[in-house]
Parts: sequence; structure tokens; C-alpha cells
Amino acid sequence: MTEQVNHQSMDKFESFYRDYTTPDEVVKGYAEWVQNGYDSDFEAITHRGHVLVGDLISELFPSNREDVYILDIAAGTGRVGQALTDRGFRRIDALDPCLPMLEEAKKKNVYQRYINDRVSGDPLDIPEGTYDAVTCSAAFVHGHLPAEAIIELLRLIKTGGFIAMVGNAEYWEAIPEYREKMAGVIQKLESEKKLKVIKKEIKEGFIGQKYQAIELVLQKL
Ligand SMILES: C[S@@+](CC[C@H](N)C(=O)[O-])C[C@H]1O[C@@H](n2cnc3c(N)ncnc32)[C@H](O)[C@@H]1O
Repeated sequence: MTEQVNHQSMDKFESFYRDYTTPDEVVKGYAEWVQNGYDSDFEAITHRGHVLVGDLISELFPSNREDVYILDIAAGTGRVGQALTDRGFRRIDALDPCLPMLEEAKKKNVYQRYINDRVSGDPLDIPEGTYDAVTCSAAFVHGHLPAEAIIELLRLIKTGGFIAMVGNAEYWEAIPEYREKMAGVIQKLESEKKLKVIKKEIKEGFIGQKYQAIELVLQKL
């Protein structure tokens, strides 16, 4: 069955990522969008990043989900937090540089802690080895996660823990920051035996039938 995608919301979505390319523009842009129907636009275009991340983390942690400590990076309005809560996870923190997005996330009541910060590659104010898993949906876009983010995310998780990320496969391929730089950072860490690539897969149905997802699951060694 073909899903009906709302064209007005899709235009809004595509022009956002065409027009806002620097970290400052991105944060300002989300602060406006969240007052102007971000969640309903993501529903209307059938954006499924949160569902895919929820399913990845569920496969990795089939039992004792209430004990798994997760940091949701680029948490936005909490769609990933909601998907994880729906799957039985309870200990979830949110991190996002855009305060109005986090304020919206608070309404869903799915996170324990709200961290208003951005992943830049510099160390975050979070101790090493805090989390069992770090999640991230829909942040492989200009002005969002830098390639070096992987190094910092790896620091935040325990040995044996996971990073589960889902993004737009088309943007990943089109943006050298991801296709070359982030892929290179991952390869280097893998060759140094600091992480293992558990999954790198292209999946249909990231946003309707128009965009595919790239799914990445990395394990800290
Ligand atoms: C498209 S939204 C995705 C929100 C949520 N993960 C979802 O799937 O609905 C992207 C989010 O990434 C956040 N973001 C942008 N740059 C970031 C960075 N460097 N570190 C962490 N979050 C960032 C934005 O503020 C925004 O809330």
C-alpha cells in the first residue's frame, strides 16, 4: 500500500535542510519549526527514524529493558524517547542544543534528564562510560552531527555498549562530512579495535517511499 505523504510538509522539510546549513542556523531553525508544527510535519511526511532506532535498540536489548541506560542524542521533541518508552525502556536521557525542542520533549514525559548541549567533538560534561547505549535519529544533515561525534559518543558508553544511529541515506551519500569523514573515523576506530561495526545497512521507508534510511550500529570494544 502506498502511504499518503503530505506535500506541504515535505516541501517544508526539504527546504529546511536546503536552506539551513550551519550549526547556528540549524538551532534557530528548529526553535521556529517547533512552534510551527514540527511534530505534525514529521508525522505528515511519515518520518520513521524514531521507529527504526526503537527497533534497533530493542533487538540489542531483548530483556531487562527497564535497566538499560540510554542517551538520546539530537533528541529533538522526544520522538525516539517515546518509541523507546513504548518498547519498555525507562532510563533515557535527552541531549539537544535547541532548548525549545527539549521543552517540547518534556511534554512527552519520556526522559529522566534533559541536557541542553551540542555534540561538537569536544568532550561533553558527562563522565566516560555512563551509558549502555547512545541513540541518534535524523542528524546526518549539514550543520548537525560532526564526523568526530563518533569519538565522543564512544567515550560516553560502557565497554560492550552500543551506538545506534539512523539517518537519511541520501544525505549520508551526498555530504562528504558523513560519506568520507565519518565513515573514515569509524574505519579507523575499527582498525584500532576500539569498536566493531555490528550493522551498516540501507533500509526502505525512512520517510515514506521517498527516502531510504542508513542504519548504523557500533559496539564499543
Ligand atoms: C531532525 S531533528 C531529529 C529529532 C529526533 N531525533 C527525531 O528523530 O525526531 C534533529 C535534531 O538534532 C539536533 N542537533 C543538531 N545539531 C546537533 C548536534 N551537533 N548535537 C546534538 N544534536 C544536534 C537539533 O537541535 C534537532 O533537535
